[in-house]
Amino acid sequence: MTQTLTYAVGEGRPPYSDIPQAELIAHINRLRREKNAVILAHNYQVPEVQDIADFTGDSLGLALEARRTDADIIAFCGVHFMAESAKILNPKKRVFLPNLGAGCSLADSITPESLDDWKERYPGHTVVTYINSTAEVKAESDICCTSANAVSVVRSLPDARVLFTPDRNLGNWVARQVPEKQVVVYDGVCPTHDVLRSASLERTWRENPEAVIIAHPECREDVVALAHEVCSTTGMLDAVARHPHARTFIIATEHGMLHQLRRRFPDRQFIPADGCIGCRLHCPYMKMTGLQDLYFSLAEERYEIVLDRDVIAGARRALERMMAVPRDR
Ligand code: 13P
Repeated sequence: MTQTLTYAVGEGRPPYSDIPQAELIAHINRLRREKNAVILAHNYQVPEVQDIADFTGDSLGLALEARRTDADIIAFCGVHFMAESAKILNPKKRVFLPNLGAGCSLADSITPESLDDWKERYPGHTVVTYINSTAEVKAESDICCTSANAVSVVRSLPDARVLFTPDRNLGNWVARQVPEKQVVVYDGVCPTHDVLRSASLERTWRENPEAVIIAHPECREDVVALAHEVCSTTGMLDAVARHPHARTFIIATEHGMLHQLRRRFPDRQFIPADGCIGCRLHCPYMKMTGLQDLYFSLAEERYEIVLDRDVIAGARRALERMMAVPRDR
């Protein structure tokens, strides 16, 4: 390892909170230059991580960026399945997840074994797996999708019978958009989105009757039914641009997205859909990565994503097949 650490590895390192933010930012900037690293961050990350990233985006945008980068190292500020996807799409690069605790309960809701059982129950169906899944589950799937292309992916399939996994709300939303397909939907949810009820959204809307409602398709059906726009997180930025005369927007997704929206559209007002100041639409995993984690990740080259070669090959097939399909809009 090159001599880049201000603090010795292990013993003697001060607790994370003792390192001033300006110092952390200076270290991260130096390390990314020295190591030819690219920092990718999801739209739900804490503001300071979004602000230091080379690229922020939704799952599809980040996967595309990971595939095209010529950096030697990818520091992925997101959750585990996203860093895995970056490794699968660019296996020669070293990919690091700065905080190993950053998982995804939706991705954990399906295993290769439970997918196999399900496939046996529905023979002859094409398996469409949301990117919020492990590499092993992707490897057992025919094609992946993200919230940005799920409708187009299902529509593009030559087969009429589809198994959609693991997100129930996204799967049901896609099934409503593509009625010509028979879509069997797995019973997983993202707890962060599934917690929002239409009653809360309606109350927020009553208080802001002029507002445009933008919802993520991981929200429940009654919530999505109230929305003027349903899209991926990056799709929300485009959706705001489509409403140049609207001043206020109600946002039904994880509250990290509000930072990205406010940064891009400082003259508009963005309100969390549950109308709660603290915001209940909070993903604890997406908030685990701080600047300290990113600094030590770059400095100590941790935590590296390592995957079995066969798993990479299988998952890559499903992801690359998805990449050939355009975004929904
Ligand atoms: P996006 O791909 O829309 O950013 O969604 C990611 C996600 O995990 C939503 O919970």
